[in-house]
Amino acid sequence: MEISGKLILITGASSGIGAASARMAAMHGADVILLARGLDGLNRVAAEIAVFGRKAYVFSVDLADPQATAITCERIKREVGVPDVIFNNAGVGRWLYVEETDSAELQQMIAVPYLAAFNVTRAFLPELLARNSGWIVNITSPVAFVAWPGATAYAAARWAIRGFSEALRADLYGTRIGVTLLVPGEVDSPYFDHNPGARARVPGIGRIYRTLSAEDVADMLFIALTREKHQLIRPRLLALSIWFARLFPGIVQWLTVRTGHRRSAL
Ligand SMILES: NC(=O)c1ccc[n+]([C@@H]2O[C@H](COP(=O)([O-])OP(=O)(O)OC[C@H]3O[C@@H](n4cnc5c(N)ncnc54)[C@H](OP(=O)(O)O)[C@@H]3O)[C@@H](O)[C@H]2O)c1
Repeated sequence: MEISGKLILITGASSGIGAASARMAAMHGADVILLARGLDGLNRVAAEIAVFGRKAYVFSVDLADPQATAITCERIKREVGVPDVIFNNAGVGRWLYVEETDSAELQQMIAVPYLAAFNVTRAFLPELLARNSGWIVNITSPVAFVAWPGATAYAAARWAIRGFSEALRADLYGTRIGVTLLVPGEVDSPYFDHNPGARARVPGIGRIYRTLSAEDVADMLFIALTREKHQLIRPRLLALSIWFARLFPGIVQWLTVRTGHRRSAL
């Protein structure tokens, strides 16, 4: 798909990967619809987009609230139009063991990314189906392929994103609507400030992979869209490890758990 001239909706666009993706899209000639809660962050990104001479439409919404999400998506249709690309990127989640995770935080981790991605996609899918074109991109973590200790609800929510992406691709078989799953390794972004404690629980084996920047992930989005990829994993060594894990799941799982975090009491 050609990016230039497209309308690209990005959730979680107020910081990190979403903000970098919005800049990348505008640099390649797209207009962007930016969603997140923080209006200041969204307006900052919108001002950067203006430098590229493209339009940025800002919508502040709590994507954990399905009703607010539905109302915002209807407003977008009325005021801006139906996006050609939806990048479901918004996500939160501290890395916690089961006994450390209270119900409210558990709900939040499922609500954003998984339920938000589902709800935003559902809001626009009838129009995408009617014009038989579009692209939906979801982002997940390597934990959706090989689980590690100390991040249980986070891992389950990222597996949900992977399952949603594969099921959606199956649903859309035969249409001209594509689905991509982006899988970056560790990214140097405000994620770890927003979700404290997570970085300390990255398994030791994770140190062999290069840390990506938010711009690297924006490049992944560019590659995924322009080459119409179903799945893109970066860095390449991580992609190799995930393929290796398909052949020898026991070895990779063992290494990940063995070099992973331990409860202090154990
Ligand atoms: N950083 C990594 O190492 C890494 C690796 C693999 C995958 N990912 C995934 O990449 C995505 C983006 O993460 P990032 O690294 O760019 O982290 P980030 O800088 O913390 O960005 C998260 C974005 O999600 C938005 N968001 C969170 N809760 C929201 C809600 N309830 N409603 C609307 N927007 C909400 C935040 O905006 P507001 O707070 O303004 O609402 C922010 O724009 C996440 O889904 C993350 O799981 C990250």
